[in-house]
Parts: sequence; C-alpha cells; structure tokens
Amino acid sequence: MELFDSLKFKIVRRNIKIAFPEATDARILGAAARMKSEELVEPVLIGNPAEIKKAADARGVQLENFEVIDPDNFDRWDEMVDAFVERRKGKATKEQAEKILKDENYFGTMLTYMGITGGMVSGAIHSTGDTVRPALQIIKTKPGVSRTSGAFLMVRGRDQERYLFSDCAINVNPNAQELAEIAIDSARTAELFDIEPKVAMLSFSTKGSAKSPEVDKVVEATKIAKEMAPDIVLDGELQFDASYVANVAQLKAPHSEVAGKATVFVFPELQSGNIGYKIAQRLGNFEAIGPILQGLNKPVSDLSRGANEEDVYKLSIITAAQTLMD
Ligand SMILES: CC(C)(COP(=O)(O)OP(=O)(O)OC[C@H]1O[C@@H](n2cnc3c(N)ncnc32)[C@H](O)[C@@H]1OP(=O)(O)O)[C@@H](O)C(=O)NCCC(=O)NCCS
Repeated sequence: MELFDSLKFKIVRRNIKIAFPEATDARILGAAARMKSEELVEPVLIGNPAEIKKAADARGVQLENFEVIDPDNFDRWDEMVDAFVERRKGKATKEQAEKILKDENYFGTMLTYMGITGGMVSGAIHSTGDTVRPALQIIKTKPGVSRTSGAFLMVRGRDQERYLFSDCAINVNPNAQELAEIAIDSARTAELFDIEPKVAMLSFSTKGSAKSPEVDKVVEATKIAKEMAPDIVLDGELQFDASYVANVAQLKAPHSEVAGKATVFVFPELQSGNIGYKIAQRLGNFEAIGPILQGLNKPVSDLSRGANEEDVYKLSIITAAQTLMD
C-alpha cells in the first residue's frame, strides 16, 4: 500500500487529538482543516481565539467544530501548573511555571503530557530547540531509552522504495550505549512505515577493516544493541556500501544478515547523519520526511521552518500514527 494510505488507514476516525501551538500560521491552519475534513486527526488549536479566527479567515478556513484552547483562559490551568512543578521536581517554582506555561510549546507539551491531546506538532515558526526542549523536560523518554533521537524516512520513486536514517537531528555525539538505543528505537520506528528492519550500524570500517576509537564505539554499540534486543536483525560495523550493495557485502561481510540488504541506517554521530540524509535527498532524489522524534513517551514532532502545508499534513499524520505505537 502507498505509504501515506497505509498510515491514514491506521488513524482514520480514531479521533486522535493533536496539539498545534502555532495555530495562527496559515500552513498549520490549512493542514489542520484538511486533516479534520478527512477525519484523520482532531486538531486542537492553541492560542488566542480572536487571533486564530482572524488567521483562519485570511486562510479561508472555517473554524466551526474546531477545538481551540486559550492558555490565558484554560479551565485546567491550576492543575497544569501543579503537574508541571511536580514533573520538573525542584527545577521550577510555581511562579516560574505560571510564566513558562504561557509559552505555547510548553503549553501544548503539557496538554499532551496530561493526556488531553495524544501528541503535538510544532516548529513551523520555532527553532528545533524551542520545540523539542519542553518534550525532553516534560514528556521524557520511554523506560530503557536515555536519549530522544531524530529519524528521517527516506522515500523514492513510484514503487516507494523506503529506508530509515537516524540520528540525523538531535544527538551530536552519542556514546555507544546511546547509539545502541537509537538503533533499537529506529528499528521500531521503521515498522510503523512497513519497513522490515535490517539495521546497519554505519562506520568507515567494515568488520575490523579499520581501527580507531570512533570505530570501537560502533563495534561496542552493535554488541550492546544485540544484547538489548536480540530479536532485531542488526549488524555492524559496516561501511555504507557494504550495508547496501549486495556484491560489496559479499566481499566485505559475507556472513552478515544485514550487509547488502540494510533498510535502517544508523549513523555514528550527528555530522555524518545530517550530511548523509541530505546527500540522499539532494543527489539521490529521495524525499526526506522528518525528523521523526523517537523514544519519547508520547509523540512530539518538529517541523522545519521551511515546511509547507503538505509537510505539516504529512508530519501530523505520522505523529498521529505514533500515538498508536506501544
Ligand atoms: C535537542 C537540543 C535542542 C536539546 O538541547 P538543550 O535544551 O540545550 O538541552 P539541555 O542539555 O539543556 O537539556 C534540557 C533537558 O533535556 C534533556 N535532554 C537533552 N537532550 C536530550 C535527548 N537527546 N534525549 C532526552 N533528553 C534530553 C536533558 O536531560 C535536560 O533535562 P532536565 O532539564 O530534566 O535535566 C540539543 O540537543 C540540540 O541542539 N541538538 C542538535 C539539534 C540540531 O541542531 N540539529 C541539526 C538540525 S535538525
């Protein structure tokens, strides 16, 4: 099935509520209206109702039946402030919480934490840090996951050839344990997109062909990941060609279950991850969808500020589908 048809099938008519803290942005409003009319997502628009209405009129969006929550007039405000203070455990006073929660990203993240919405999509006008930080502080990572990471779904051509690349967005230099966790999370994320995970732990070395502390880290991460999740098909350390090209795999890693057939590519640190996905996107004509944040207790997605309405629509569908993952 076509990728987004399959995701839509999973979420349609399930009334999955997604918080949109940037509800005066025309791209957000357009995408929200489309998702609502297609019964894919129940958008929860955050902000001043008059300002949202003005922006919606300008965009030609009818706001009837939309849930709008105004942080300045929210009936569960006190409960939210208390929950935030409790969650931040001594890192914010009540007075500070009252101020912080006026920030729409913190407010939307708290709506998600409190279960009022299933997830949040933001970042069309905010930086990655401002979008993601509240989630790291409040929603936090799942048990057994110490770092949130950012995967990209790479899709190309009519037959929807697809791969998952990670971490391409968040962790500048993960250690071996963190890299192992990123690999395991990535395998799970891949399944959401009907990709059968075969995880390659990428390096500039294949099975001991080069020696360096950087390579040692990938070897160690491979060992940890195999111990933590023996059910996942995963191997390393592999160069990209050995992971992807069958005849190179035959020469360099003939006994590997992954070499030559990898579908999930785990980069050793952020420079290679970020550069790598952009090369595939720009030279390889792949569509890069993401970053898809993985490892959080509840999904929060960060749009690029260059995102268009279609990007908002797609990332929101993915976020809604992530709410159904265990
Ligand atoms: C994501 C990012 C913005 C977080 O930065 P930050 O807010 O300065 O992070 P801090 O170190 O101050 O930590 C803030 C909180 O988040 C937690 N945190 C930080 N990174 C985390 C991660 N990857 N996973 C889980 N928690 C994390 C910290 O433990 C801390 O929690 P606490 O306040 O409860 O103690 C930062 O990692 C970053 O800038 N990454 C690179 C992003 C980038 O430029 N990408 C390239 C293009 S997309």
